[in-house]
Amino acid sequence: MKPSRREFLGAAAAAACAPALRAAAGDAFIEILAGEPIATIAPQIYGHFVENLGGVVYDGIWVGEDSSIPNIGGIRKELVEALKRVNPAVIRWPGGCFADSYDWRDGTGPRNKRPKRTNFWASADEWPKTARRDGPQSYDPNYFGTVEFARFCKLTGAQPYIAANLRGARALDFNRWVEYCNSPAGMTTLAEQRAADGEGAPLNVRYWGVGNEAWGCGGNFIPEDYATEFLRFTAWVPGFGVPLAFIGSGPNEGDLDWTRRFFGKVAEKGSLDRVWGWAMHHYAWNASAGRTTEWMAGKGDALRFDTQQYYEILREADLMDGFITRQWKVMGEADPRHRVKLVVDEWGAWYAPGTEPFAEGLLGQQSTMRDAVLAGMTLDTFNRHADKVGMAAVAQLVNCLQSLFFAHEDHFCVTPTYHVFAMYATHQGAQSLRTQVSAPAISYPRFTGQGSVPGLSCSASLREKGLTVTVTNPSLNQTREVEIRVQGASVRSARIVTLSAEDVHQHNNFNNPNAVAPRDEPEPKAGPRLTHRFLPASVTKIEFALA
Ligand code: AHR
Repeated sequence: MKPSRREFLGAAAAAACAPALRAAAGDAFIEILAGEPIATIAPQIYGHFVENLGGVVYDGIWVGEDSSIPNIGGIRKELVEALKRVNPAVIRWPGGCFADSYDWRDGTGPRNKRPKRTNFWASADEWPKTARRDGPQSYDPNYFGTVEFARFCKLTGAQPYIAANLRGARALDFNRWVEYCNSPAGMTTLAEQRAADGEGAPLNVRYWGVGNEAWGCGGNFIPEDYATEFLRFTAWVPGFGVPLAFIGSGPNEGDLDWTRRFFGKVAEKGSLDRVWGWAMHHYAWNASAGRTTEWMAGKGDALRFDTQQYYEILREADLMDGFITRQWKVMGEADPRHRVKLVVDEWGAWYAPGTEPFAEGLLGQQSTMRDAVLAGMTLDTFNRHADKVGMAAVAQLVNCLQSLFFAHEDHFCVTPTYHVFAMYATHQGAQSLRTQVSAPAISYPRFTGQGSVPGLSCSASLREKGLTVTVTNPSLNQTREVEIRVQGASVRSARIVTLSAEDVHQHNNFNNPNAVAPRDEPEPKAGPRLTHRFLPASVTKIEFALA
């Protein structure tokens, strides 16, 4: 991680907030327009990211078949069961930056004969001083290869999304990886290899990332050169009956130039149909409120934060809305029919080192109620942009940046972010509906001037007679009374679930795994208008049954 990778942040800081209508007074309302669908919410928006980094794979997911920790073929059972409950539509692997240093062949063959390699992250600056540096997190035994990843996906019901190595491998290696995954049983040497590794039937991997952060750790490309490589890698790849979906390494946040130049070059060649998705990354990391844009210095602490840092991280997260809108517009210059979808395959909060759940959990950080609010706001943004965002992945699944789980040896717990994913799961595959939100924006002091965060964030979706409305109140100290008006449909009943905590710093850990958990509210009176008091720093789901 080099500071320069985030060089666009300064420009991004000036971007606009979510499209809530700002009310002058304290009253707030949310109008749900049942007759105004936006698009189907791709279940893949509720995706996850597993990089071979710190404690994500080793200890987090892979414990080994001989472990005393309950496992399914070496994969942590408790994790599988909890992940299944949030309906993970897609899981991206093996990176991240790791992807562009990975040779997929290392993860094949008998496990005890696989080569040991130095992990991409072995010499990262962020390692805690007390971490053991001789374990699988630094020297990768390659026990968790393609077949093990595919099994993890199958066990949890997710589709695999593999990020291929563009910086360090050849197009031929990419072709062979697809062949290993997808060629029919017994028909190729690689299909036989796959069978020997434990999976006779094709893995049918559809989603393929062509490199990762090609502007940074993925090769330091300029967009035109990356476009050329993208076209070379994706030319004539045998699909074996699987409609391969290639995902290009898109911009760092608001970098429109990267997008414009890549799309321009690929369109010039008449090959835009080769691009299924365009991956954008955006982390909320700078808590300095305008004091610095320096990568290490700008970060705050995951647990110890003040009011300004709280709002600043949410403001950073809220930049997502403008990034999506502006990237979409630029993509449309070359792709006016918008065939290519945005894929936000890395998002979440990124704090300074110091709250790792255990020392080998590099980039591990605690996850408080603030992160739950951030997750709610971000998922609402994706839902509202269901016509643009085809896939997303929170970074990263376990023991890392904004994680849903902590898992170490025989300890396991879920984070507040997990609960948000569980609450929002009903949006998957439903019709996103237009909403009108009126709430006074939250204003707070920055280093110079004032910062602002939307007074409420919200999204709504409809599936048959079920209307799901999710609402986040980012205010640290104000309970917001809101009238919710359902237009164009009649309501029979409503059910409300809230995630909140006495103190926004509250979080779950191995000793106190249920400090933050959702609770059902008393059933409200049904009708076209419902008034609800949204607690400070809370995430709420209202499920309406329609007549
Ligand atoms: O998620 C951690 C890292 O952040 C990923 O490896 C990289 O893609 C991004 O910069």
